[in-house]
Amino acid sequence: MTQSDIKDPALAPQGARRIEWARREMPVLNALMEETAHERPLAGIRVGGCLHITTETANLAHALQAAGAEVVLCASNPLSTQDDVAAALVVEYGIPVFAIHGESTETYYRHIGQVIAHRPQITLDDGADLVSEIHKHHRDLIPHILGGTEETTTGVIRLRAMAADGALGYPIIAVNDAMTKHLFDNRYGTGQSALDGVIRATNILLAGKVFTVVGYGWCGRGIAMRARGHGARVIVTEVEPLRALEAAMDGYQVMPLRKAAALSDFIVTATGDKHVVDEEHLAVAKDGCVLANAGHFNVEINIPALEAMSVDRQRPRPSVDEYRLRDGRTLRLLAEGRLVNLAAAEGHPSAVMDMSFANQFLSVRHLTEGTTTLSPGVHRVPEELDREVARRKLAAMNLEIDQLSEEQRRYLSSWKEGT
Ligand code: ADE
Repeated sequence: MTQSDIKDPALAPQGARRIEWARREMPVLNALMEETAHERPLAGIRVGGCLHITTETANLAHALQAAGAEVVLCASNPLSTQDDVAAALVVEYGIPVFAIHGESTETYYRHIGQVIAHRPQITLDDGADLVSEIHKHHRDLIPHILGGTEETTTGVIRLRAMAADGALGYPIIAVNDAMTKHLFDNRYGTGQSALDGVIRATNILLAGKVFTVVGYGWCGRGIAMRARGHGARVIVTEVEPLRALEAAMDGYQVMPLRKAAALSDFIVTATGDKHVVDEEHLAVAKDGCVLANAGHFNVEINIPALEAMSVDRQRPRPSVDEYRLRDGRTLRLLAEGRLVNLAAAEGHPSAVMDMSFANQFLSVRHLTEGTTTLSPGVHRVPEELDREVARRKLAAMNLEIDQLSEEQRRYLSSWKEGT
């Protein structure tokens, strides 16, 4: 019997059908799996993953399993687990999973502990909670760990802080920083899935509404672009002058959140930082404003302040909490301030996770190749692997591109030729 702590194994058939559906949109990961399955390059390697338990993650876990790895999974967020997928992984794929949608913080950390008990030699993180728990409470494991990967911006920031402190005990590949990850997953993936979450949760028309995006990183750009596509009037708020300038020249209104809050029907955060929507913004926010977070942790909106300002809270729809404030205004918080794209929708579409998880797969292989010796610290995905993912994705999309001629190649490498 495969070990697990999941909601209901009877959900497995539905989960299996949805995993199969996602697989059809993940040709790069599939091809990598099929090409390596006979060699089993990861034979016997214990892989512990703290990832969002979605249909796409199931396909990554299956690819690693097919390459020989012994994979064990827990969730990287208490609200992102798809219970049918967790069931299918356990029942149909024989992969131990410890994840239940809506689990308490205590259960969330107990589940991470169950992955650690598997003594992983490779860690896969989305937000760095697994690495952090290993470094805080299970340091004896560190000498046996070959390396890890990190999927998301927030996790990479945390890991770089650990490395700067001299606290990171093994090498981690920052999958997030691969071009074929953040240019696509963070921008088009978050763009589509965050809007999907807001729309599924509220079913409120976006056309003609004022939609504020807090943070103009790759995720914020995607959200702003797709909100505009729905006909919303989009405001961007930033703290970085360069990004603010880009947002302005991309055609968005740019202003401080203090001003934007009073105008906004929607405020969506994507900064990775704490309390970016704070008491001062909540104090002036427009009546009925929808607040959502698309960043990794539920700290971007100051929820304790919102609670302290409120006299009543109702849940008119799943994923919507309506807070009635003392002054009579109502503010609507989506998904308890957790990442709206995974908590109120299904996360990024499979076609974009295909590239992110192809990078994960290639990075795990890279960490386990005898020739690789990476020092403890945060490392990039090797450029040739990043390019390989781009090449394979283009081929899977039936897109051909031009090649440089010999003359052009020579011209580009010569400094002598001018006008
Ligand atoms: N992060 C964002 N979207 C995701 C998805 N669909 N699966 C796994 N991790 C994700």
